[in-house]
Amino acid sequence: MSDRRGGASSGGGVRGELKQRVKTGRGRTLSQKRWLERQLNDPYVARAKREGYRSRAAYKLLEIDERYKLLRAGQKIVDLGAAPGGWSQVAARVVGPSGRIVGIDLLEIEPMAGVEFITLDFLDPEAPARLTGMLGGPADLVMSDMAANATGHKKTDHLRIIGLAETAAEFAREILGPGGAYLAKVLQGGTEGALLNDLKRDFAAVRHVKPAASRADSSELYVLATGYRGTPAAAASSDED
Ligand SMILES: C[S@@+](CC[C@H](N)C(=O)[O-])C[C@H]1O[C@@H](n2cnc3c(N)ncnc32)[C@H](O)[C@@H]1O
Repeated sequence: MSDRRGGASSGGGVRGELKQRVKTGRGRTLSQKRWLERQLNDPYVARAKREGYRSRAAYKLLEIDERYKLLRAGQKIVDLGAAPGGWSQVAARVVGPSGRIVGIDLLEIEPMAGVEFITLDFLDPEAPARLTGMLGGPADLVMSDMAANATGHKKTDHLRIIGLAETAAEFAREILGPGGAYLAKVLQGGTEGALLNDLKRDFAAVRHVKPAASRADSSELYVLATGYRGTPAAAASSDED
């Protein structure tokens, strides 16, 4: 990727610094030790702390926005899997007081100015109507960083995240206004191409994006669909009216 702004070189200046090591013991499993070591040595974690973002994930959205100009003042945005709130922070800073952001997560999220959160499973049948009511009008962007807890079984993790992204896409088709955009996290594993092809029917441009802040050794990718055309089903029912 040519644009590495926000990358390790500008992010934390880790090059040349001593890597922090974590001891096993203290009741830590090997995978907990590895996770902690990775966090301590991650330039984006350090940068998020310095710049006041709630998560390193904020840099993924910042980078995607820098490349594709998704966020604008006054927009209405739905943030799916919003905890702890990094993406909402990035969005709130751009949309400002004339915009509206609603977020949902299984986990409770600390309140944030300019954003309304609900603690609910997005797969709950009530969730779409609750979010639609909170937003109070068509959305400009539906963004999903949802990820179920990893099982460690690659195929299962892939299928679960694709299931979440597909449900988010269904919801996006219901709530997006014309020209709206959909952004969702997926894990590579074979079926992410089908989601992309499906989105091509309703969006002018669909692509996979791998931001620099997404760990290179992870199969994580984002699907970005822009230029929502409106569903044929919605158009057909309004023709009949
Ligand atoms: C990677 S984190 C999101 C980080 C967030 N974008 C940020 O910038 O802070 C993924 C989130 O998805 C949430 N999640 C997973 N499955 C969900 C579901 N079915 N409904 C709502 N949230 C879900 C998890 O609880 C977790 O907080």
